[in-house]
Amino acid sequence: MTIPAVTLNNGVQMPQIGLGTWPLKDHDAAPVMVTAIEAGYRHIDTAFRYGNQRGVGQGVRDSGIAREELFITSKLDGEFQGENRAIAGLDACLQQLQMDYVDLLLIHWPLPQRNDYVSTWKTFETLVASGKVRSIGVSNFTPAHLDHLLAETTICPATNQIQLSPRITRPDQVAYGRAHGIVTVSWSPLGQGSDLLSDPTLQAIAQKYGKTTAQVVLRWNIELGLVPIPKSSNPVRLVQNLDIFDFALTSAEIAAITALDTGAEKRVDSDVDGH
Ligand SMILES: NC(=O)c1ccc[n+]([C@@H]2O[C@H](COP(=O)([O-])OP(=O)(O)OC[C@H]3O[C@@H](n4cnc5c(N)ncnc54)[C@H](OP(=O)(O)O)[C@@H]3O)[C@@H](O)[C@H]2O)c1
Repeated sequence: MTIPAVTLNNGVQMPQIGLGTWPLKDHDAAPVMVTAIEAGYRHIDTAFRYGNQRGVGQGVRDSGIAREELFITSKLDGEFQGENRAIAGLDACLQQLQMDYVDLLLIHWPLPQRNDYVSTWKTFETLVASGKVRSIGVSNFTPAHLDHLLAETTICPATNQIQLSPRITRPDQVAYGRAHGIVTVSWSPLGQGSDLLSDPTLQAIAQKYGKTTAQVVLRWNIELGLVPIPKSSNPVRLVQNLDIFDFALTSAEIAAITALDTGAEKRVDSDVDGH
């Protein structure tokens, strides 16, 4: 199976669907990585905070795949934010993963009340030259956070990873990304396996194409140019979630799925939660 890639604003190619790894931990991540890589995943999303980077790295080694065939994202949270603190944070990630570099390093949360995401980003900019990270990006940033960042720094983030599903479509953040060349990555793209997946609109579209509702949601991400990172530890669902490249949604179906955003779903708001 060939997974299409999106080209980041620095020319690096990122597979357009990845594997989420939260809430896997070190003790259970490795076998899931092996199954996922065998199924065809080449893009893996982890974070220092998840406590699974040793397991993820072990699983990659167990799979026998060459490191350069994978796209690995990690993230640094508050403990490594502030001037120069990301240097030790990246080294800690690489030590846990037992890798020489990550493909993408993200600021996990803007933590606006701390007012240090700009200084953190300036340190991220220096990390690119170290060769230990190929691309840098952010997560859970609003357009206001990005405006502030772009005004104060040099490198435009390659990605913004945000909570995004048919019930939480975040049109402002997606439009901002398109306008500035920032790829939007969707976390919790399946609504964490909630009743989203039994929505009647999704069921009708799924029936038409002989797909599951989860596959329809993931395909909707692809049609919109988004990069979903669904998590699964189930071997059948791991395969299903990748099997989305043999059908296409009509523009009316894309619009109907986008219209499922009622504003009712629980949203994680970076200004409020900021964790
Ligand atoms: N940047 C951030 O702040 C942030 C925050 C949260 C998450 N993330 C990242 O985003 C990833 C994905 O988000 P998420 O794990 O919260 O939610 P998700 O991917 O939307 O949903 C995962 C849940 O859905 C189930 N599932 C997976 N495929 C399915 C399918 N085809 N049909 C039915 N159920 C299915 C999984 O169970 P099984 O495992 O049993 O299949 C799991 O319970 C995380 O793993 C993490 O890497 C990032």
